[in-house]
Amino acid sequence: MTSFLIVTDLDNTLVGDDAALKELNQPLSEHRQEHGTRIVYATGRSRDLYNILTTEKTLLPPDALVAAVGTEIYLKGDDTPDAEWEKKMSHKWDRDLVVASAAHFADLVPQSDTEQRPFKVSYYITEEAAEEVLPRLEALLFERGINAQLIYSGGKDLDILPCSGDKGLAMQFLRQRWGINATRTVVCGDSGNDISMFSMGEERGIIVGNAQPELRLWCDINPADYRYIAKAACAGGILEGLKYFGFFS
Ligand code: GLC
Ligand code: MG
Repeated sequence: MTSFLIVTDLDNTLVGDDAALKELNQPLSEHRQEHGTRIVYATGRSRDLYNILTTEKTLLPPDALVAAVGTEIYLKGDDTPDAEWEKKMSHKWDRDLVVASAAHFADLVPQSDTEQRPFKVSYYITEEAAEEVLPRLEALLFERGINAQLIYSGGKDLDILPCSGDKGLAMQFLRQRWGINATRTVVCGDSGNDISMFSMGEERGIIVGNAQPELRLWCDINPADYRYIAKAACAGGILEGLKYFGFFS
């Protein structure tokens, strides 16, 4: 057995089935101890909301936390986000102009203050309204010269991020910094904000059995043999996928 890098989403991927989480944590923790496997959480949550989750669930301490949909990277032991990563995000990003542009659309309901971050502006919007509003908002941001991407997840959450920052790019940044091959990297997710991790390169992908329609649809359109759609939900699906790819015997 050799080491690997696991980058997993939290809500409804690693977290969601407590018994399965416990069953996965044990071999994962052992693998880290024996082989130096690295564990990264890549979440849409701010660090504040992540900290709350750690009081509610038994999570192994990660080697790095990718927070706010990839726009912030906290290496183990650090209280401030990685400065090199933050610098990449600033190019052609004007947060105030993003907020002002979004204000044109009454269907966009701002999320809580904790989830508004320097490089992430977040709203709630229904699926029905999103179909009409998202293309218009995207065009407006483009017109105004803002380098932004729109990420819609779970039929309700809209995140507006710089094009240079998402979970996939953050995963790749860490993988390269640590010198880990794409084929020894496995990414796990359940929804729209995880798609960037599955679309980077040849990283092994695990889609948990309870994945959202937007991710399933994307997988149908972009088939790849280095991606596995698990039968089991949440951490059970991750364990199933790790065995499928041979990371765990
Ligand atoms: C988390 C974040 C939220 C974001 C969502 C989808 O729930 O708290 O701000 O919109 O993930 O990325
Ligand atoms: Mg999720």
